[in-house]
Amino acid sequence: MTREESAPLDPPTAYARLREEAPISRVSLWGGRATPWLVTRWEDARTVLANPAFSSETSRPGYPNAVEDAPEMPPGYFFAHDDPAHDSFRRILTREFMVKRIEALREPTTKIFEQLLDKMTDSDGPVDFVEAIALPLPSLVICELLGVPYEKHDFFQSHSKVLIDSAVTGEQKAAAHQALGDYLEQLVEEKRRVPQDDLVSRLGESVNAGTLSVRDAADVGAFLLFAGHETTANMIGLGVLALLEHPDQIHRLFAGKAELANAVEELLRYLTIAHTGLNRVALDDVTVGDVTIRAGEGVIILLNSANRDTDAFSDADVLDLARSNARQHVAFGYGIHQCLGQPLARMELQTVLPQVFTRLPNLRVEPGAVRFKQTSAAYGPSFMPVTW
Ligand code: HEM
Repeated sequence: MTREESAPLDPPTAYARLREEAPISRVSLWGGRATPWLVTRWEDARTVLANPAFSSETSRPGYPNAVEDAPEMPPGYFFAHDDPAHDSFRRILTREFMVKRIEALREPTTKIFEQLLDKMTDSDGPVDFVEAIALPLPSLVICELLGVPYEKHDFFQSHSKVLIDSAVTGEQKAAAHQALGDYLEQLVEEKRRVPQDDLVSRLGESVNAGTLSVRDAADVGAFLLFAGHETTANMIGLGVLALLEHPDQIHRLFAGKAELANAVEELLRYLTIAHTGLNRVALDDVTVGDVTIRAGEGVIILLNSANRDTDAFSDADVLDLARSNARQHVAFGYGIHQCLGQPLARMELQTVLPQVFTRLPNLRVEPGAVRFKQTSAAYGPSFMPVTW
């Protein structure tokens, strides 16, 4: 289902009708060769995502992969695996994404933003905001956290795009996994010899201690590198666009720490960049609402529909940065796979968004010139010319 051209920040209008009339219904995938269930309501989305009878194993028969010939996911891409395999990786990383660790990156993130903005405002504009700020900022921060040299950004950004694009072949996706994994493997080996204070070095220590294989360490690093920049980049771009459309609410970014945090939650809810939903396959027969999903059947949980469900959020189609229950959104998923990087994403958004409007009070987007990534699992602008 496609979005209305006139409302690129809103989900397709068909979702509202589905929530009302057929909240869990069949959809057609791969030219009709698969007919997974589509879950559209907030409550049902949480029910499915919290139930271990719905598996994340992408290679199980019935799993509704975006492309029919999707390659098998390496173990290090642990979002695509169930416990205990998933948990064994997630546990190694929990400390890395603790709020305290991430807070230490707030200052460097501010500096990175200032440098990027100084560079952008050196020219007269219009400038592509995606290329100048939205994409390099989270890329530089994740490079800092992982210990990956930023000079490799063209390489990892282009492969990351392939991993979440539904308009490419499974073969292209497999090649992207391979290339990212090979590069990270080389980096893990270097850091095993000369460790530094970064996440890839700590993965290298786990290899030295015999708790991880070199390839698994490399794939975990590659997964974090990709998950850590493509996502937040889209949220920065969309967040700026949404605020420019609602200039009367920009002051909420400056109303205090709690108000800023809430504003970011509301933007995450309203914009829900994981717009193609989360995929699962049933391991047992499970009844959700009025529907019995049989073992082996695929399920797509539409997060951007769930986050616009009026049973969960009053006036759900309205952006209200002061909304009292914004934090109940499922933009980061729900259950055991809920986004590990959310403290990092929140910190980046809370740092960048107020600064954009402080430094660029006259920021404008060229009307009608913004282009969006329609076939990417992470929705956002691909081109966003701005003046200031
Ligand atoms: C606004 C930005 C972000 C959004 C909206 C987002 C969204 C999500 C969602 C919806 C999931 C759940 C996947 C599932 O259940 O199948 C997820 C998982 C994950 N995210 Fe994020 N993410 C963001 C930023 C980040 C960042 C900055 C990182 C840092 C590396 C990250 C790392 C991860 C990881 C490692 C997982 C897998 C967790 C698991 O399976 O246990 N994400 N993310």
